[in-house]
Amino acid sequence: MEEILKTNEPLEEQLAQGRKMETLGILASGIAHDFKNILTIIIGFAELALDDHTNLPKVKRHLGEVLEASYRAKDLAQQILSFSRSGDKEKRPVKVNPMVKEVLKLIRASLPPTIEIHQDISDTVYEIYADPTQLHQVLMNLCTNAGHAMKEKGGVLEVTLSDLNRDLAAISEENPAPSPYLRLTVSDTGHGMTPEVIQHIFDPFFTTKIDGEGTGLGLSIVQGIVKNLDGEITVESQPGKGSYFHVFLPLLENTAAPKEKTTAAVPHGNERILLVDDEAALVNMGRKMLEKLGYVVTPCTAGLEALQAFCHDPASFDLVITDLTMRDMDGKQLIRELSRKKPGVPIILCTGYTQDIYREDFSGLDLDAFILKPYNKAEIARVVRRVLDQ
Ligand SMILES: Nc1ncnc2c1ncn2[C@@H]1O[C@H](COP(=O)(O)OP(=O)(O)O)[C@@H](O)[C@H]1O
Ligand SMILES: [Mg+2]
Repeated sequence: MEEILKTNEPLEEQLAQGRKMETLGILASGIAHDFKNILTIIIGFAELALDDHTNLPKVKRHLGEVLEASYRAKDLAQQILSFSRSGDKEKRPVKVNPMVKEVLKLIRASLPPTIEIHQDISDTVYEIYADPTQLHQVLMNLCTNAGHAMKEKGGVLEVTLSDLNRDLAAISEENPAPSPYLRLTVSDTGHGMTPEVIQHIFDPFFTTKIDGEGTGLGLSIVQGIVKNLDGEITVESQPGKGSYFHVFLPLLENTAAPKEKTTAAVPHGNERILLVDDEAALVNMGRKMLEKLGYVVTPCTAGLEALQAFCHDPASFDLVITDLTMRDMDGKQLIRELSRKKPGVPIILCTGYTQDIYREDFSGLDLDAFILKPYNKAEIARVVRRVLDQ
């Protein structure tokens, strides 16, 4: 679904950008390779000189600086090399869950105690087809950035692993779970980013970090790897609030959560729900999910239509689930009208973007919960039950 795989650029621009990146990659790797050889020589001789002059403190200190700068440059060259070398990796089935846990252990050691680490990792073991070192790199880079964003004030770094179906519109009785995707989210409560910064974060060498602290390559490497794995990466952030990085990767078919298991665990109900979204495919899918859970659903594909249905007989609805942005009516306006007609009616707002939840002003609205599109059956089941039971 394009909501989760959103990108604002037209295809031609993306292609042009892709070509530019490829050329840049070839150029960069050539330079980086030579650069590493030169650095090896600098480091080697600086070390030799250091051995010879251990009795001269000043020389020792200066050589120490030379070495430290050289190591940093070598790291940079290494990053550039891994950035441009995406084709020659060895892909095989990789279990993601243990790798995430492993990386979090590594990261824990490097973060100050003011940063808490939370993990919400599904019991289902997810397998993807990838080079383990690439996956490791993706995780390390995202977690390092998150840690850096919270260096000053502390906060919470959270990593979640779940799965979802990418092509919600393709869901049908015959094919209830098309192309399962792994969703890996790394979030932090750090300083966040302005929209101007977000625009450039995936550009190679773009960094807002002071000299030596950042190479500006982390995220462009991450993006390169994710693309190479036929995945997508999206970002949501707000200055002062924190950031979310979502990585979507195709799962190896047999490792998605078994269907029976989710059905057994999700709560059911028989209440009457008004479901509003101007995307017909989404309404259809939501309706199917909710009806399977036992609910009675009135589907609407327009705000006005929903309002009419509701006003006609407010007593016949126990819950409303509505989209935020619709062509004919703003979801917020709809919510206002609905709660005027029937104060206290439970309302769940559904949106494709977490940004909406941050940016929009929901004060004064009678809202009970948010749900993020695309949702799966278990997610909607839980939210609906919780709101109805409140
Ligand atoms: N979790 C985050 N919170 C805030 N800003 C971030 C985060 N992740 C990345 N950024 C921004 O994106 C920029 C580029 O990141 P990256 O490519 O990893 O390079 P580097 O970390 O070396 O600066 C960072 O300098 C920072 O401005
Ligand atoms: Mg980084």
